Amino acid sequence: MSDKPAILVTRKLPDAVEARLSRDFDVRLNPDDLLFSMDDLINRAQGAQGILPCHTEHFSADVIERLPQEVKIIANFSVGVDHVDLAAAKTKGIVVTNTPDVLSDATAEIAILLMLGAARRASEGEALVRTRTWKDWSPSFMVGVQVTGKRFGIVGMGRVGQVVADRARCFGMEIHYHNRSRLSPELEKGAIYHKNLEDMLPHSQILSLNCPNTPDTVGLLNANRIARLPDGAIVINTARGVIVDDAALINALQSGKLAAAGLDVFNNEPDIDPGYRNLKNTFLLPHIGSATIETRDAMGFRALDNLDAFFKGGEPGDRVA
Ligand code: DGY
Repeated sequence: MSDKPAILVTRKLPDAVEARLSRDFDVRLNPDDLLFSMDDLINRAQGAQGILPCHTEHFSADVIERLPQEVKIIANFSVGVDHVDLAAAKTKGIVVTNTPDVLSDATAEIAILLMLGAARRASEGEALVRTRTWKDWSPSFMVGVQVTGKRFGIVGMGRVGQVVADRARCFGMEIHYHNRSRLSPELEKGAIYHKNLEDMLPHSQILSLNCPNTPDTVGLLNANRIARLPDGAIVINTARGVIVDDAALINALQSGKLAAAGLDVFNNEPDIDPGYRNLKNTFLLPHIGSATIETRDAMGFRALDNLDAFFKGGEPGDRVA
């Protein structure tokens, strides 16, 4: 029997991350990248001291209650921890960690891709080329929204929001933000703070959602708030689908109130509201904000740093519960 801690890994991880896991732990990998049911996961966790999951596994209070007693840490391969009932984990004495910082650049890249893809009608244009239905060029053909110099509103000016703001500044955009607390002038870099979200919305020609999923942000972008956006605004979401009221957003895209939306995250992924697929003015990606080689390696190493610290008897740097 190994004297190394046993770790259940729920998904296929980058090779370099799995190599370090295999070196330092008695590891149970998932080479075929199966999506475990939570009952299956609980069985596989028998005898494991730690679990390294992704946001695809949902640790409800009931699941946490049923985890084997030996499980002492859930070291997430994600910055978001809305898939884990943190209070239940705390009650059971299970430490929970995440992987902040390392995915901010990659996620901000996707936010900018969504903004440009939505504004410049990328899905529509690409479909024309791929389906050989592109017939002509004319001054009125495929005209979109120019983002340069526009006003850019950010909901949630945390690590990702700040990088998104930096990238948007490259387009000469005026940055507005709403956050629980105002940033220091060094971090704000001239961005305009709005204590109330309602006050920021009329300024947001492009609105970027970068806040976490909390009880306060569920359904945050609803019909009333969309109505406060300028006509022809564009909404982009790289945070979590649950922040958006799908019916309200789809309605505003259909009516022309909004010019377009760029979405990388959805309610009920991957079975998203079909209304989005039927619209020409949506630019849709399959939750790939952190999907770069560099970032996925860094997320894995950060999760491993947290496991190392925990099993050496220290405090993991990214402890959230
Ligand atoms: C995160 O890290 O939260 C990303 O959404 C991927 O899970």
